[in-house]
Amino acid sequence: MPEPITFPNGFLWGSATSAYQIEGAVREDGRTPSIWDTFSHTPGRTDGGDTGDVAVDHYHRYRDDVALMADLGLGAYRFSVSWSRVQPTGRGPAVQRGLDFYRRLVDELLAKGIEPAVTLYHWDLPQELEDAGGWPVRETAYRFAEYATIVGEALGDRVESWITLNEPWCSAFLGYGSGVHAPGRTEPAATLHAAHHLNLAHGLGTQALRAALPARARVAVSLNSSVVRAASETPGDLDARRRIDNLANGVFHGPMLHGAYPEDLFADTARITDWSCVQDGDLAVIHQPMDALGLNYYTPSLVSAAEAGAGSARNDGHGASDHSPWPGAEDVVFQQTPGERTAMGWTIDPTGLHELIMRYTREAPGLPLYITENGAAYDDKPDPEGRVHDPERIAYLHGHLAAVRRAITDGADVRGYYLWSLLDNFEWSYGYSKRFGAVYVDYETQARIPKSSAQWYARVARAGALPE
Ligand code: NOJ
Repeated sequence: MPEPITFPNGFLWGSATSAYQIEGAVREDGRTPSIWDTFSHTPGRTDGGDTGDVAVDHYHRYRDDVALMADLGLGAYRFSVSWSRVQPTGRGPAVQRGLDFYRRLVDELLAKGIEPAVTLYHWDLPQELEDAGGWPVRETAYRFAEYATIVGEALGDRVESWITLNEPWCSAFLGYGSGVHAPGRTEPAATLHAAHHLNLAHGLGTQALRAALPARARVAVSLNSSVVRAASETPGDLDARRRIDNLANGVFHGPMLHGAYPEDLFADTARITDWSCVQDGDLAVIHQPMDALGLNYYTPSLVSAAEAGAGSARNDGHGASDHSPWPGAEDVVFQQTPGERTAMGWTIDPTGLHELIMRYTREAPGLPLYITENGAAYDDKPDPEGRVHDPERIAYLHGHLAAVRRAITDGADVRGYYLWSLLDNFEWSYGYSKRFGAVYVDYETQARIPKSSAQWYARVARAGALPE
């Protein structure tokens, strides 16, 4: 009889969401628009013109949603705070009603024994800060530090686990490069400046949190570091890999983990920016000690050099745009990786997760790792009895959790796993057309139906082991 695959004692089994994707209630209790409100209300930006106006109405249903997590036996929940709910213009005093929502949510979680992890920034910049220049402007990083202080002071007595930014790559490169995310700008230099100011925001935000939080609090960042593979060993393909790796990974983990940008990044992007946005002292600020590193993983990338004369492909899995999200590497071709794919068109490859964990075990020796997102979208539908069967998602989760376990066996210090996502929700430019939830949401009635994957994950979480 094969043995079940057991995880270490104390391994955290969680799920994750983000504010704009689930909360709705966008005009309640003093909240003002974020860049995602503006973007989703701009014709042509999201599938079917979908917006987060109602989303899955979590703002009103949070108690039921926490009860659902408790029923599933989950030990941890990662959510994000909506900046424009707690500091509507992105500056100045906080709105108590906004903060109170998160206090109530956290109290509900703690009462059910579920450990909260707060992400401060999951892509929803207050619109007023974008109007003042957004992330390409240095001031936004200082505004973020002030916001971090507000949330830290409000929730620091009850939340121990903090994440400054979620996937800063998407904020910078999809928001200001390809424009498929809010605010939808397509400016190569602004993309790189945004990346630097997000790094600075992480550093300043970490300092602000340290000052506001008790010593036991843990501060981390969640990166969607890419597993970038070269299509062949030719010098051109290997160089394409090197350049994309810098733009996807090194541009963030370089300053955050090592206190320096990769030198070749400056050379590769010299015709786009002189990087004078990096001021004296910035790298020391960004290079803050962290207590953990969050990794989000879905699929690997496969790149090659463009053939002479060929147009560059935009098939990098991040949505269609005439503009490349890769400043200085617009010529790189993203190949379709072989294998089965999810409803996002993303190839299923758990070996990428193992590779990613082992890379960061080397990049950041001694730093505990958390998988702060992993999961899959499928075209789930209730059957005539109203049940939702999603064996593909179970297989996806099983394969990726087994990869996490292999990495632990190989010496990685992975402390927890947050399934993306607890609920079906607003999948950014794809609107409600892609369902990532372990729990199905009927968007007409807001009814929640745990899919078979939720039942499976609940058993895994309870046993602390994968069935064979
Ligand atoms: C990463 C993002 O953090 C999350 O918001 C998104 O829904 C998932 N990936 C799936 O695309």
